[in-house]
Amino acid sequence: MKKPQVVLGVSGGIAAYKACELLRRFTESGHDVRVVPTESALHFVGEATWSALSGHPVSTRVWDSVEEVPHVRIGQHADLVVVAPATADIMAKAAHGLADDLLTNTLLTARCPVVFAPAMHTEMWEHPATRENVATLRGRGAIVIEPAVGRLTGVDTGKGRLPDPADIFEACRRVLARGAAAPDLAGRHVVISAGGTREPLDPVRYLGNRSSGKQGYALARVAVARGARVTLVAANTALPDPAGADVVRVGTAVQLREAVLKAAAEADAVVMAAAVADFRPARYMTGKIKKKDGEEPPPLELVRNPDVLAELSHDRPSAGQIVVGFAAETDDVLANGHAKLARKGCDLLVVNEVGDHKAFGSEENEAVVLGADGTETAVPYGPKEDLAEVVFDLVVDRFS
Ligand code: CTP
Repeated sequence: MKKPQVVLGVSGGIAAYKACELLRRFTESGHDVRVVPTESALHFVGEATWSALSGHPVSTRVWDSVEEVPHVRIGQHADLVVVAPATADIMAKAAHGLADDLLTNTLLTARCPVVFAPAMHTEMWEHPATRENVATLRGRGAIVIEPAVGRLTGVDTGKGRLPDPADIFEACRRVLARGAAAPDLAGRHVVISAGGTREPLDPVRYLGNRSSGKQGYALARVAVARGARVTLVAANTALPDPAGADVVRVGTAVQLREAVLKAAAEADAVVMAAAVADFRPARYMTGKIKKKDGEEPPPLELVRNPDVLAELSHDRPSAGQIVVGFAAETDDVLANGHAKLARKGCDLLVVNEVGDHKAFGSEENEAVVLGADGTETAVPYGPKEDLAEVVFDLVVDRFS
């Protein structure tokens, strides 16, 4: 079988050294990789390294091996182009269709999915020029993953770090697995909630639930691979940040509501995979609740939390926004699911049966996705990513 053909574009940022690991991951897992650095990238990692690791000659210019017409052929033959790190400069050039070196030519001739993994200082990432270029690229169907937050070159920290090469690799694998299918969420903003809220009783105790957040994280990874800008609102999860998503951490249902509504104000789709506590303690005790000899335990008074999914469904910032809920049920799964879909007012409800060994914390899931239009889509037991793919297929159907 022909090896998948990957073009690894490397532009001139300090994170270029991390692209060596990305390259290794591709080659060791059976991909044929052509590295196309920019001239500036070679200030950070030399030609010999790229050539030795990829097993191919490396050039930055269109004037080498002209007889092979490299400026056209490399892009035409690629199954995937990934630019990592992608500087503000290379994205500006790509957004404007400039073609002054081999990488920019390749970006113009490639017809396969193109992934940009940006890395730059926060100020450059946030500059209106970069914002517009990123929006242009996404609008045209490129996958621009969100940079990670953390230590940048020097002493500063902020948004702009290249995500971990292992995570970029996994995201690229997912893109490749979709074959020639267009990244159908490119240009879309998707908000996903994940995990389970915790409602504090006192400084050491809380009311919580058993949600691990794995389904929400799988949704985030799949949405990134399909080209979406992803905001993941994560409640009390202990999972590594999914590469390419913006992660907002929350604790309680009230905090989750605030974060989700804020992000949803300009989102195309919201997927509420989080397990949100319906009730919270009526009072928060600032000191630890103590037991007293001979006394009954104090009664636990609860108050209702806001229903975020119902609120999202009823007060949509735009008519075209798609809202997806999840329903965890232990009995009468489908009947309860239909009733919940009608009650919440969302477009889709993913209904799964939960119990001692089902769904919570596992890598697999099985569900039926109910549509407000009466559709029922059964998703057989399998990886949580598979369920996520079906959810986004149904979301994309509803966009159109
Ligand atoms: N949800 C929410 N806000 C709440 C409770 C739930 O947004 N206060 C959302 C969840 O994120 C999920 C959906 O509603 O997408 C259904 O959650 P579930 O716990 O199954 O439903 P409940 O409304 O809590 O109904 P019940 O507990 O009565 O089954």
